[in-house]
Amino acid sequence: MDKMRIDVITIFPEMFGPVLNESIVKRAQEKKKVVIKIHNLRDHTLDRHRKVDDRPFGGGAGMVMAPQPIFRAVEVVKKEIRGKGVRVILLTPRGKKLDQKTAKRISKYKNIILISGHYEGIDERVRLHLADEEISIGDYVLTGGELPAMVLIDSIVRLVPGVLGEKKSLKSESFEGNLLEYPQYTRPANFKGMKVPEILLSGNHPAIEEWRKKTAVRLTRHIRPDLLKINRKRSA
Ligand code: ADE
Repeated sequence: MDKMRIDVITIFPEMFGPVLNESIVKRAQEKKKVVIKIHNLRDHTLDRHRKVDDRPFGGGAGMVMAPQPIFRAVEVVKKEIRGKGVRVILLTPRGKKLDQKTAKRISKYKNIILISGHYEGIDERVRLHLADEEISIGDYVLTGGELPAMVLIDSIVRLVPGVLGEKKSLKSESFEGNLLEYPQYTRPANFKGMKVPEILLSGNHPAIEEWRKKTAVRLTRHIRPDLLKINRKRSA
């Protein structure tokens, strides 16, 4: 697959550098597997004061993000991409809750535009006529959509082919097959009297595989029984 391009529209562009220029996401950009461009929403305002929000029609507390700069920013990015398939995603607490399946689906788009919401809300016309979908990163309210955009970026970039070294490490991780990951140990085998399960030192690989599978299922049943219910629904 060609590289993925991610454009982010935000009023806090400086929040992104420290997160996206570290670790695996940084490496993904260096390896040219993904291009991430951060756009300052204020650059797309048409008024002298670079205002991105206004008072709500009908009255009430707080401010609402105005449609004009957002529509313009998306239009500018779309022009740069030149008509190639693009998905516009709005980060809000009202969106569909992000999970691994959604991250996988979004990681397959060639171009995505992320809009980080703010203030009391965002003009409804952005939802209705600009965004293709809305994503929430969980049932809690943050001060803005910047951290959610970074969470989404992190979750999808690692799924882009060639970003992580080993395919195997993706296969066995948590949520694959709706199971939590089995417990891992490394040296020493005995750390201050806390011992590694005997089976992992046995060299008997089929038995180790079986132990891992069984432990993953037991852990999931104990900690996240809701994941196993999803499994049952799917196979039914
Ligand atoms: N903006 C504020 N809270 C959010 C959340 N939980 N998910 C996505 N965007 C948000």
